[in-house]
Amino acid sequence: MAFIDIKKTDLTHIQKIDAEHQQMALFINQLYSSAKKSDFHDTYNIFKNFLSATNEHFFTEETLMKENNYQGYFSHKLEHDRVIKKLKSIDEQFYANINVINAEELSNLKKWFFNHLELSDKKLGAFLIEKVFR
Ligand SMILES: [Fe+2]
Ligand SMILES: [Fe+2]
Repeated sequence: MAFIDIKKTDLTHIQKIDAEHQQMALFINQLYSSAKKSDFHDTYNIFKNFLSATNEHFFTEETLMKENNYQGYFSHKLEHDRVIKKLKSIDEQFYANINVINAEELSNLKKWFFNHLELSDKKLGAFLIEKVFR
């Protein structure tokens, strides 16, 4: 079984958002396998891909929120900003040749991913669907 597995019930039903979540989950799974092998360069490369996919994804959601005058924009963006800050600090550690990606860090990331998906992204998805089909 994969470390992170996006089930049907985890979908927002906004195609672009769901596809990007899938891509992020793929990178997190790769990080998990690579961290187990403790291969520094491999883990760093996957992490860089994950960081840029996350930045792109947050941009997608934030653009959709702004374009549609979404009320929950600020609190949702705040959660994104918090994660980016955390990922940037991990990136700085990598830059200093320190690999802080371990089982605990990945399990926190997984918890955040599903928590955010459930509480923020699905709410946004429902709002966008409602707006389009109203
Ligand atoms: Fe989000
Ligand atoms: Fe998301």
